Amino acid sequence: MRLRNKPWAKPLIKANPQWVVTEPEQWRGKWQERFAKPQPLYVEVGTGKGRFIVEMAQKYPDRNFIGLEMQAVAVGITLKKQLEAQLPNLQLVCANGSGLTEFFADDEVTGIFLNFSDPWPKKRNEKRRLTYKSFLASYKQVMQDDGLLEFKTDNRGLFEYSLCSMNNFGMHFEQVFLDLHDTDEDNVMTEYEEKFSKKGQPIYKLTAKF
Ligand SMILES: C[S@@+](CC[C@H](N)C(=O)[O-])C[C@H]1O[C@@H](n2cnc3c(N)ncnc32)[C@H](O)[C@@H]1O
Repeated sequence: MRLRNKPWAKPLIKANPQWVVTEPEQWRGKWQERFAKPQPLYVEVGTGKGRFIVEMAQKYPDRNFIGLEMQAVAVGITLKKQLEAQLPNLQLVCANGSGLTEFFADDEVTGIFLNFSDPWPKKRNEKRRLTYKSFLASYKQVMQDDGLLEFKTDNRGLFEYSLCSMNNFGMHFEQVFLDLHDTDEDNVMTEYEEKFSKKGQPIYKLTAKF
């Protein structure tokens, strides 16, 4: 998903270094220092416009959250939400998730969220999918041993691919939902999730450990 350029986004990010990190390598192993108090750390890769990560931080004040997103416009939109909410347990990172092991020390992260990740349907783009084996290897490295990966999508092809990719990586599934909204599972929605579920599409979800 490419968002249209917004000229205000980069200046807004630059003006708010207390909420947004643009050189995450510098905080490797030290992320807890950026929060009001040390608490288990959860990272969403591909935050988009930020509804999910902001609501999660509001709902779980006893956890710390990082919303990582590579498009400055999307980070700017999430930052506007955080400037209103002023959540002490939420930080934003503007960077590509492919560098995760440079951004986080081994075992620094408790949980990772992937929500409505770009499907990259062409085989030649497989390596860009956030559930490709090289991404899984980086999640494994930065997460604690019992860390949980949570993945939601409306895209059946990407969901099928991800089940195989995680299985081939030796991951162990805790839960699989083929129609998340048809269950009473506790759920915080994302912008994409609302859009697709309003069209009547089922939402797929899995949770898995390494
Ligand atoms: C389809 S959107 C979904 C946004 C949001 N998670 C939601 O559910 O509403 C996917 C987002 O992931 C971001 N993204 C894709 N690959 C990424 C990567 N390697 N690192 C960081 N962000 C990425 C895109 O820029 C885009 O904002």
